[in-house]
Amino acid sequence: MSSASPLVSCKAIYKTYNQGEAQTPALRGADLDMYGGELLMLVGPSGCGKTSLISIIGGMLDADSGLCSVLGNDIQAMSAKERARFRGQHLGFVFQSFNLLPALTAVENVSVPLLLQGISRKAAETQARKVLQTLGLENRADSLPGRMSGGQQQRVAIARALVHEPQLIICDEPTSSLDHDSGQHVMKTLRQVARTAGRTLLVVTHDPRIFCFADRIARMDDGCVISLETYSPEKSPS
Ligand SMILES: Nc1ncnc2c1ncn2[C@@H]1O[C@H](COP(=O)(O)OP(=O)(O)O)[C@@H](O)[C@H]1O
Ligand SMILES: [Mg+2]
Repeated sequence: MSSASPLVSCKAIYKTYNQGEAQTPALRGADLDMYGGELLMLVGPSGCGKTSLISIIGGMLDADSGLCSVLGNDIQAMSAKERARFRGQHLGFVFQSFNLLPALTAVENVSVPLLLQGISRKAAETQARKVLQTLGLENRADSLPGRMSGGQQQRVAIARALVHEPQLIICDEPTSSLDHDSGQHVMKTLRQVARTAGRTLLVVTHDPRIFCFADRIARMDDGCVISLETYSPEKSPS
């Protein structure tokens, strides 16, 4: 795996949030490399910088310093417009808070990334229904998010991140609202996606029930990636 060049490479990333007088260091020299075909889990205590790091990789947050290369592009050097375009084509992001559009049905929410690429509404909805079906939501496709359970909304958010077949998929706690069986099903689907040529998945999680789906587990603490190991059940983080 390490002989290929990484799809994502973060080197010495620093980030401090400034709010008035208060300064909160979130990342203190974080390093992370990810390769095609792998599912990498990012674990660590609350507040250690996981969401900050994946937001920088996703081009939604500026680092103070360091280098972040995503699919061969220096994401920090891109303009806002270039980043939006890049995300639309190459990146699927599942937010911890889902960020579904409340006035749109599930199938309409999932269609958005395809519509942004100029695909016709009819073709987009057909594709969106297919992805919803793989996540067990075919019966909820025409429901509004407000009428769905947290677990169903989470799966809609995952469907939206997969529908345009991006090369990099980043999920922040994708199973936090799911019961055991739905969580296992979602992870099986995500792992299958990761195995598709050249794709890669970065999953932030606290959920030990899904560690077994990881190829590698990166542990963070205090703004740094402190270890990166191939998954093995004995060494699984608790
Ligand atoms: N928008 C923000 N403004 C100020 N501080 C923030 C902001 N986002 C995160 N932080 C702080 O940065 C640190 C890292 O946060 P975060 O990246 O969300 O960690 P994690 O996802 O591991 O819980 C925490 O101390 C958090 O309180
Ligand atoms: Mg977080």
